[in-house]
Amino acid sequence: QPRIVSGIQPTGGVPHLGNYLGAIKSWVQLQDPAIQAQRMRGSTSDGQRSEPSGSASHSVSAVSSQPSNPSNSAVDVLYMIVDLHALTVAPEKAVLRRNITDMTIALLACGINPAKSVLFQQSKVSGHSELMWLLGCITSNSWLSRMTQWKAKKQQLLASKSLDKHDWGLYSYPILMAADVLLYRGTHVPVGDDQQQHLELASTLANTFNHVHKSAFFPAPVPMYNDAKRIMNLRNPVNKMSKSDVSDASRINLTDSDDDIRSKLRRALTDTNENSITFDPENRPGVANLLSIAAAIRGETPQSMAEHYTKSNLNMRGLKDAVMELVIAEVKPIREKIAELQADEKAVHRILEEGSHRANEMSRGTLQEVRKLVGLDL
Ligand code: TYM
Repeated sequence: QPRIVSGIQPTGGVPHLGNYLGAIKSWVQLQDPAIQAQRMRGSTSDGQRSEPSGSASHSVSAVSSQPSNPSNSAVDVLYMIVDLHALTVAPEKAVLRRNITDMTIALLACGINPAKSVLFQQSKVSGHSELMWLLGCITSNSWLSRMTQWKAKKQQLLASKSLDKHDWGLYSYPILMAADVLLYRGTHVPVGDDQQQHLELASTLANTFNHVHKSAFFPAPVPMYNDAKRIMNLRNPVNKMSKSDVSDASRINLTDSDDDIRSKLRRALTDTNENSITFDPENRPGVANLLSIAAAIRGETPQSMAEHYTKSNLNMRGLKDAVMELVIAEVKPIREKIAELQADEKAVHRILEEGSHRANEMSRGTLQEVRKLVGLDL
């Protein structure tokens, strides 16, 4: 039984254009049964595709006691705000609370529809922590210490002399992420490509669990990427766009005004080849990033956008103007919807509560079965 599961950290409260084009836009599309079918088959007409990794298996599970999804489509879709993951960077509690609400509002504004998918708060489903422990007991430290995100984070914290002595949360982060997916026996995970290694671990843990317990209980989850799987930093386009960069000019936030967007894109680092537009991520990362952004919004490939802009005789200034208008047209309705939803936070909290209740129900069968397989049932 295919099942789509993904998550986002509430850190920052508002997603940036990388989160949106790399993941959330796909989340919204994947609520549609026709698109689910298309993308799960492997490719679509608009160039987006899922890339099942060779090692992934789709073992059919032995248990089928999950309640059906709210939309009556064949596929359950679950999206979560991973507030437990956010605790790894020790946020102030008032800030964390605010961010959880703001992230929920932003996801709804982007088009996540609680009638079609289950939108919930990770910490409200205690099975995530429980399954994390059970998976942790079949995890090798060597798998965790290989994680590039952990290594990079550690370097970053050491360099800024702020490595917290409480660093086990960051280290074990990928086990919790595996639990997020496996708790629902998720098969497909729409993410950006920075999550690839984490999902490989989720797949390893699924296979290890099955092997240890001589069952075909967990399907190995498959990442689903789209063409915007890595949107780059506007100031330094060899790095990905991220919430943690100190410079706000390095990213576009979904709450940025039209003027903010214009000024950030106008200042985006490109190169000195002012009069030609080519898609060459290696040698021209800044230009390639602008083309990827345009392509993701238009549902085309960056190469075809490059051809299109070349035919229109655009120079760098013209390219930036064109991308600006596309981004503004995409972000503006979301920003306006965010403002609208902010007026009724109670309704937003109700949606999250209802989703968390549903996710709890959906996790119950898996947990019972896992406890049995491990030998915890009496
Ligand atoms: P997070 O919160 O950092 O990012 C959320 C999603 O946005 C994608 N993304 C990007 N895509 C393209 N270009 C970028 N510059 C860019 N930056 C971020 C991320 O790949 C992600 O899909 N560990 C995860 C959250 C998580 C999760 C899960 C995801 C926890 N449990 C279970 C899937 C399934 C994270 O930190 O994402």
